[in-house]
Formats: sequence, C-alpha cells, structure tokens
Amino acid sequence: MTHPIPDAALSQHVLIVGMTGAGKTYTAKGLAERLIRDGRRVCVIDPLGVWAGLRSSTDGSGPGLPVLIFGGEHGDVPIRDDMGRAVAGIVADASCPPSIIDLSEMSGGEMKRFMTGFASEVYKANRLPLHLFVDEADEFIPQQPMPDATVLSGEMDRIVRRGRARGFRVTMITQRPAVLHKNVVTQAATLVALRLVSKQDRDAVDGWIKGVADAAEGKRVLSALPGLDTGQGWVWSPQAGVLDLVTFPPISTYDSSRTPEAGHDYRAPTLASIDVAAIAEKLEALGDHQQAEKPRKSKADQDRMLADLQARHAEELKSAFRDGYLTGHGDAMGAAAEQIIAAARALTKQPAPDAIRSTEGVTPPAPPQPARQHRPAPAKMGGGQRRMLDVLVSRHPDRLTRAQWGTLAKLRHTGGTFGTYLSRLKGAGLVEDDGTLFWASDEAVRQFGADAPKPESAAAIREHWIAVVGSGAAGRLLAALVDEFPGWMRRETLATLTDLSATGGTFGTYLSRLRGNDLIEEDGGLLRASADLFMEPAP
Ligand SMILES: Nc1ncnc2c1ncn2[C@@H]1O[C@H](COP(=O)(O)OP(=O)(O)OP(=O)(O)O)[C@@H](O)[C@H]1O
Ligand SMILES: [Mg+2]
Repeated sequence: MTHPIPDAALSQHVLIVGMTGAGKTYTAKGLAERLIRDGRRVCVIDPLGVWAGLRSSTDGSGPGLPVLIFGGEHGDVPIRDDMGRAVAGIVADASCPPSIIDLSEMSGGEMKRFMTGFASEVYKANRLPLHLFVDEADEFIPQQPMPDATVLSGEMDRIVRRGRARGFRVTMITQRPAVLHKNVVTQAATLVALRLVSKQDRDAVDGWIKGVADAAEGKRVLSALPGLDTGQGWVWSPQAGVLDLVTFPPISTYDSSRTPEAGHDYRAPTLASIDVAAIAEKLEALGDHQQAEKPRKSKADQDRMLADLQARHAEELKSAFRDGYLTGHGDAMGAAAEQIIAAARALTKQPAPDAIRSTEGVTPPAPPQPARQHRPAPAKMGGGQRRMLDVLVSRHPDRLTRAQWGTLAKLRHTGGTFGTYLSRLKGAGLVEDDGTLFWASDEAVRQFGADAPKPESAAAIREHWIAVVGSGAAGRLLAALVDEFPGWMRRETLATLTDLSATGGTFGTYLSRLRGNDLIEEDGGLLRASADLFMEPAP
C-alpha cells in the first residue's frame, strides 16, 4: 500500500498539527519508521519521552528498529543539559544510527540549555540529509520566546530556514500552531492537519495556506478539521500535487505514547543491538574536544563554572554514567564521565574535591591537596547528597520511607543518582535503615546537626515539585491534585481541568512522570496527590 504522504514530500520540511490526542506523534512515528527502514538518517527530539517504543515490536515483546536513545527512562547514553553540543556532534556524524533525544527528565530550563547547544552545533556540523523530527516544536520555536529562549529559537529558526542546503529536512509537530513561530510555519512544504478545534489554531493553519496554497481549497480543509477522528487528517503538499483526507496506517513498532492504563506502568522496549559503547566513546572524545575548544575564561568565570560543576553536575553526571555501566553498557561510559569531569577540572585548574572522588577504583589522578582538617567539611559534599542527608538530620529521629525521603530531598527516589548517594551515605555510616525506613545515624547528627538547615515547609516542597515536574501542563496537573487533596479526582476531570486529552500522549506522559516520582496515588480510575507532599516538619 502506498503511504498517504508521498516520498517527495519527505525531502522537504513537514508541519504536523492537531489538538492533544489527535494522533500527531503517532503519525510522525509512521513517517520516521519508513525513513529508518529506507536507511535514511533520522533524529527525533522528544520532549515528552514518548518515542522509545520505536525500538520494540508492535506488541512490545521483541526488537523493533535499531535506534540509539540519548537520555530519558530508556536511554542508552545518559545526557545532561550541558551536553547538547557533544550530542549534536555525534548526530551530525555520518556513522550515527537513527536516534531519539529524550528530554523528558529535564526541567524546562535544562531542556532549553541542552537544545541551544544542540541546535547551534548540529547546524554547523551537519552536511548529509538528516530528517529531524521536533515533537512539541512550539516549546523550542515559539512565536514569542521568553528572554531565556530567544537564542534557541533563533538557532532552530536558522535550521528550518537555511538548513535545507545543509541537509536538514525538519518535521515540526505541534498542538498549538498559533504559538509556533510564523517564520517556520510558512517554511513547511507539506502540511498534515489532524483534528483541530480552536479557532486561533485553525487561523494559524490558514496562515500557512495563504502562503503556499489555494484559498478555496483552504476553506474546505479548515472547516473539516474540528470533526476529524483520531488518526485522520489532511495531507497537503502543493508541490507534490497532493491534497487528501486520509486515515494514517497503523505503526509497526510499539505504541509507547498510548496512555498507560491506571495502575500499569509503561512497558520498557526490548533493545535491538546497537554499539552503545562505541557511541559513548565518541561522546567522551567530543565532550573533551568541546571543553578544550571553549574560549579562555576569566578567573571569575572559571571559579563560577567550577562551583557550578561541583554543586550540580559532577556528582550526578558520574552516577548517571555509572547507571549506564550498571545496566551493562560497558565501562566506556563510566570512563567518559571521569574524563569529562577531569577535563572540566583541568580547565579550571582546581583539585578534585573528596566528595566527587570515586569509591569504586576509578579514582582520578590525585592533585596536590591543600592542608585541611581531617574530617571533610560538610560543604564539600555534593548538592544532592547533602540535601538527602540534611533531610534526615533535620527531621531526626523521624524515619522516612524511600519515597518520602526522595520527595523531601527533591530527588527522584527511583533514579540511579539517589541510589548512588544512598549507598555512599550508608557506607559512611551517616544513614541507617531497616530495609523500609531510613534515618540519620547518631554520628550524622553529631557531625552535621549544627549545620543542617531548618526543614522546608510542606508548602515549599509542594511548590518545588510543581515547578520541576515540567513547565506548563505537568505542573498544572500536580497543582490541581494538590488543590483537591485529600480528595480524589477522576482522570477525565483532571484531563479537562488541565486542557489535555485523557487518551493523548501528553497526559499519559505527565502522569507517568508524577507516578515515577511517587507524587500521586492511584486507586482504580481515581487519582490524588501523594500524602508525602503534606508532611509538615515537627515545629
Ligand atoms: N492512525 C492511527 N491509528 C491508530 N491509532 C492511532 C492513530 N493515531 C493515533 N492513534 C492512537 O491515539 C493515541 C494518541 O495519539 P498521539 O500520542 O499521537 O497523540 P498526539 O496528537 O501526539 O497527542 P499529544 O498532543 O497529547 O502528544 C496513540 O497512542 C494511538 O494509540
Ligand atoms: Mg504527541
């Protein structure tokens, strides 16, 4: 069967629009599958973490397509917000397999930072045809970017407007064409319009039509948009001579954007074989290269950068890579992490602090140590690890479950970073547990009690989580459940309150994210905020 979107249309930019749950991601996956099977170069920017299923068979039980995943729950190579350029270097290389860049575990700010580096480098480095899919494209190229996103928006605009000659064929996917930048909307040679109800968004589609196609036909298409079924849409490619209302065929890989049934979590795709170690090695090389290429920094900048690295990145980066190591992807990633950290440290000519020295036999060369007291000062402990300890010390003698502890320490308790810190704290005799509950040891209270900050109020913890689970709808979703607490809410009510479709990919992803952090409780089809978010510290 010939696909409703002709091959010719795929060598140009494509715009896929439709309201939440209309089938945009699903349709785009169908296109990506086809390009990958044809041996084309494909890279998917996946802000919601809904693309990993490409790597599984339709029923999720066997291998799918050989796709490399950067970041996210199913990632082969963990990524951080400062690795955008390095990842772009790999993606632009002729030898890179089709890839997904899963940004779903980053905050809005981190995502922007990663993408700014990525977009600028991939534009410079890419020369061969590359099909770039940008899901939720309005996140990156909004009509009115916030001040911290203008550079990113400019870089993305450049890829779309000037990138054709450098090989870019961009498929932009958005549920809000009205907030996607007009400049890039009009660059699409093919429009795929799925169900779309809001007048504003249909007007934006009209903007495209006016630029490239016939007005009378445009009216016909626009008036039909609100009534379309899921998976049904108009394909319009004036250059290829196509204007059809079609139903998109089923995809052949696992439908990982389908809303998980209540109580069931996302099924992990089975991995097809990819030489991950080789990729990680390359990331290592490029990481170093990038660091070395940076222009010389002033002393003040170096100090700031070092503080930043120590506080936020070094420790977590290393454990993230160790996760990769532990899941059996070879020790290249652990080594890569060591090297990136060592390079950053060399750049700033600072000694390695004790807190980020490895305990597992991969200790970096010891730099000369300044004279110091025999017990490491509390401030030397990495940010996240110190926060975990502070939570227990400041609430001593309370005992907390792992989820409660993670919530209060603002770390995902199922993540590898949390696990690494936990084993270090236990190894140092600072934390004790009975298998279920965790508390600060007497030694921890003696050493750190005086410096431990006052525990944060439950309201502050709630605000933090609402802010970090994601910009926009994910935060609104948690906020709505918090407002309703201790009441329960039906999924459909929650979806309506947050302007999402209860069966769409976005809603499912956000719920999984909340679930993964134990921020919600579920009972049949009912949901409510976790009681852990309401745990006040003792006065
Ligand atoms: N052509 C199709 N055939 C069969 N099922 C489909 C089709 N299109 C979409 N679906 C179903 O609808 C679900 C939701 O589609 P999808 O995730 O693509 O929506 P979306 O438009 O990307 O929504 P969101 O804006 O929330 O991300 C899919 O997981 C799939 O189960
Ligand atoms: Mg989607």
